Amino acid sequence: MADRNLTRPDELSQGLSFYRSPEGELFCEDIPLRDLARRFGTPLYVYSRAGIAERLEAYEKAFGEEPHQVCYAVKAASTRGILELVARQGAGFDCVSGGEILRALEAGGDPKKVVFSGVGKSVADIAFALRAGIKCFNIESPAELDRIHAVTERLGIEAHVSVRVNPNIDAHVDAHVATGLGDSKFGVKLTEVIPLYEKAAKLPMIRIEGISCHIGSQVESAEPYLRMVTVLAGFVNELARRGIVLHHIDLGGGAGVAYHPDEKPLEPSELIPALIKAVRREVSVPDIEIFVEPGRSVIAQAAVLLTTVQYLKSGLFERQFAIVDASMTELVRPAIYGSYHLIEPVVPHPKAQRQILNIVGPVCESTDFLGNDRNLAIEAGDLLAIRTAGAYGMAMASTYNSRPLPMEVLVDGSRVIPLRRPQTALDLTRDEETLGLVKNPGMSEEAVRSLFAQSLGMSIE
Ligand SMILES: Cc1ncc(COP(=O)(O)O)c(C=O)c1O
Repeated sequence: MADRNLTRPDELSQGLSFYRSPEGELFCEDIPLRDLARRFGTPLYVYSRAGIAERLEAYEKAFGEEPHQVCYAVKAASTRGILELVARQGAGFDCVSGGEILRALEAGGDPKKVVFSGVGKSVADIAFALRAGIKCFNIESPAELDRIHAVTERLGIEAHVSVRVNPNIDAHVDAHVATGLGDSKFGVKLTEVIPLYEKAAKLPMIRIEGISCHIGSQVESAEPYLRMVTVLAGFVNELARRGIVLHHIDLGGGAGVAYHPDEKPLEPSELIPALIKAVRREVSVPDIEIFVEPGRSVIAQAAVLLTTVQYLKSGLFERQFAIVDASMTELVRPAIYGSYHLIEPVVPHPKAQRQILNIVGPVCESTDFLGNDRNLAIEAGDLLAIRTAGAYGMAMASTYNSRPLPMEVLVDGSRVIPLRRPQTALDLTRDEETLGLVKNPGMSEEAVRSLFAQSLGMSIE
């Protein structure tokens, strides 16, 4: 264990969840990342409990005595142990499917703190949410209200609802994660909002709770949020004039985090007081409760993805590649959004040749890269940390190319807690049906599975 008083500051972790020892080795809390890679193998997601707790506390502290509810966006990282940490700290959950509600409640979440967003809620998901008694549905279209109403009548259970407004606001974020522009599929268009509330108010099994909005992800300043508050306040005030009094205003998630040491996260201590001030100034309903749905800003900087360099190779035209054992199946953000993640050696390797490298994975897709043009001194066998990997990392992982899902562990001080059972390719084929067409298989199923199992984890060091 390194003496944390002697550590080097690390710009990409809040608090001291990740830091370097005086010798330059990267730690998570009290544990050298190198030890975790040795014990669990790579690719490996490592989460810091303190890092997650500190972010949730930052939101709570920023709200202080204001009536509020923080609903963690489950989609950002939905592994059960993480949701348990969130539930234990008293936060609620923003879910976008029946499966996410299931996870949140299995993890001990309070259904009365669950909001249900998403443009395509199925009848089964609506029924489950009603039976579980969630806080409210964030309705995303007039047709969805009709469907929810039909399910309430069938089950004889009232639905509590908000309307998710599409405010037609540019949050100045990457087009892939912008959700508040008029041409996006999310939310109810401005002209339909008041008629939808008026219709909902007349439906016997519908209880109107609030209003919601989410303008996008990785938002860098409070300014687009303040424009959103003005749009929502206009609706809250107009509805109050018409006798429909809302109890909460849900401002969504989206606060940006630092992927690069030069980037400044949009801190809750900066964003939340500005939002509270704007809501209290512009909304005529006193003490309306303020909800937020942060995902990325809770979990992104609290985790790294560890990966081992498999091979170095050169392409034509001087291009150099480091082929690592993580790929787009563990972390798809670079491949689908072109996102930047800082990639750095866990233990410095001063003797290795420094060069400009494209860090790529083994998956057979040209888009399978983790970082391009990185100036690194590394060799085959070195361990790398892909930083700020907690949000939309594991939650978007796939088994493409028959790659098993990566292992995830939580570090809590000097304790290491596995968050899932390790998976192998043997688990991937187990649930598939055979057609029984090949009468004389080249090898028996038992034999091939046994050979595969024998080869797992083999090393030539
Ligand atoms: C409705 C809703 N709420 C909250 C979030 C969380 O956003 P972020 O992870 O950027 O905080 C999202 C993300 O897409 C969302 O769609």
